[in-house]
Amino acid sequence: MDMTQVNVPAETQTATLHLPGQPPFDMAVTVGTENEHAFDVTQLRSNTGYITLDNGYGNTGSCTSAITYIDGDKGILRYRGYPIEQLAVNSSFVEVAWLLIYGELPTPQQLRRFRQLLTEHEMLHEGLRHHFEGFPPSAHPMAMLSAMINASSCYHPELIENDDEENFMASAAKLMSKVRTIAAFSFKKSLGQPIVYPHPEKSYCRNFLHMMFSIPYAPYEPSPEVLGAFMKFLILHADHEQNCSTSTVRMVCSSGANLFASVAAGVCALWGPLHGGANQSAIEMLQKIYASGESVKTIVEQVKEKKFRLMGFGHRVYKSYDPRAIILKQALQDLLKRTGQEDPLMDIAMELEEVALTDDYFISRSLYPNVDFYSGLILRNIGIPVNMFTVMFAIGRIPGWIAHWYEQRRSGGRIFRPRQVYTGATERNYLSIEERNGCANDLGCDAAYLRGI
Ligand SMILES: CC(C)(COP(=O)(O)OP(=O)(O)OC[C@H]1O[C@@H](n2cnc3c(N)ncnc32)[C@H](O)[C@@H]1OP(=O)(O)O)[C@@H](O)C(=O)NCCC(=O)NCCS
Repeated sequence: MDMTQVNVPAETQTATLHLPGQPPFDMAVTVGTENEHAFDVTQLRSNTGYITLDNGYGNTGSCTSAITYIDGDKGILRYRGYPIEQLAVNSSFVEVAWLLIYGELPTPQQLRRFRQLLTEHEMLHEGLRHHFEGFPPSAHPMAMLSAMINASSCYHPELIENDDEENFMASAAKLMSKVRTIAAFSFKKSLGQPIVYPHPEKSYCRNFLHMMFSIPYAPYEPSPEVLGAFMKFLILHADHEQNCSTSTVRMVCSSGANLFASVAAGVCALWGPLHGGANQSAIEMLQKIYASGESVKTIVEQVKEKKFRLMGFGHRVYKSYDPRAIILKQALQDLLKRTGQEDPLMDIAMELEEVALTDDYFISRSLYPNVDFYSGLILRNIGIPVNMFTVMFAIGRIPGWIAHWYEQRRSGGRIFRPRQVYTGATERNYLSIEERNGCANDLGCDAAYLRGI
């Protein structure tokens, strides 16, 4: 008999939980500005002894946040209220970063000051530069990125000891600027090429591409098409509310950890193939399909038999087309058209999308292309190697992580500390090594040796 009920009358701001053998328990209802409803379970355990169980946190609000709004059913994504479609066309990455961190589009003076700070902090301390020598040539750039972000905080102890407004802005600019330099240096290191230093007169995106692709005596200058596509890529990755890496940043921040340590943890969370690593996995999947010569229909059948997942498809939140994928697909088509480049992987991707979107397996599970399906193709076509894809995602996500760290820090919230439902052994008494199974076997039982005495 199910006696557990939760009543949330629409007209009140309280939800009442009826648990077996307990008086009704009232919970305050929080309503977001987009009419999202949540009931507050903060006092649930202390009042009823119950906790909520939510595998994968798909139904748990870990915080309130004013940064990014997503409606996954309608395919809506807005930063601070501004639709992503408008920002992708009209804004720059640096402007979007300011918007995410501070909540408003910057005034011309604020934008100028922020750009100036990004330029001032673009160099790495020479001591830090030597850290690159410690990595083997095969090191994954995500491992290097996380380690170097953490290491860079050692060179700026003043920033991590004090996070007043002025210091926070300097930390934010330092992090955003240095991450770009670290990423480009790690790429050069992997190629065995000399490091190219940042150029103070180049804008944020142009400067990054310069550090990536210039070689001594052969400066690289991106075409407007390449620059535009790259800028869109960064803007579209700048934030995505409480995903795995951002929640990680907020969780680490909740312990009082500094911005650099929290973001270094976010980089590690992003690395996984179910999260930021999916852009690399998606391209590798397309490359495999291309090399195998198998038809897209055969591939889709294998996916339906659950032999593997279609990387770049599906999303925890979007149950319609990911709006970022729409913009990136268009940007990619424009890039290929204007540069006259051809990419056989693009043809496979489009065919996969067509077959999948008309197949009941994908329709019934609301599986659509996500941001990673086309983003890897953009990166590939501007010359970024596959093992750097997730690093590119991280560069884009830095402003979002900074914004969430700042919001979390200023919220004065408690340390994040989820509960669990324990399913292990109940209390039992310790058995000496002689009493355990297997002691009477041929090997004998030298208890003193096994105890390490
Ligand atoms: C993003 C992702 C992790 C979301 O996972 P989730 O919300 O936990 O969804 P689930 O893993 O519960 O999947 C639900 C169903 O869809 C299927 N499914 C989900 N993503 C799929 C994919 N990419 N290809 C094939 N089937 C998929 C699952 O097998 C499951 O099927 P079932 O109901 O028959 O068991 C998942 O869709 C995925 O692994 N995608 C590929 C990786 C990727 O592109 N990640 C980048 C996200 S931006």
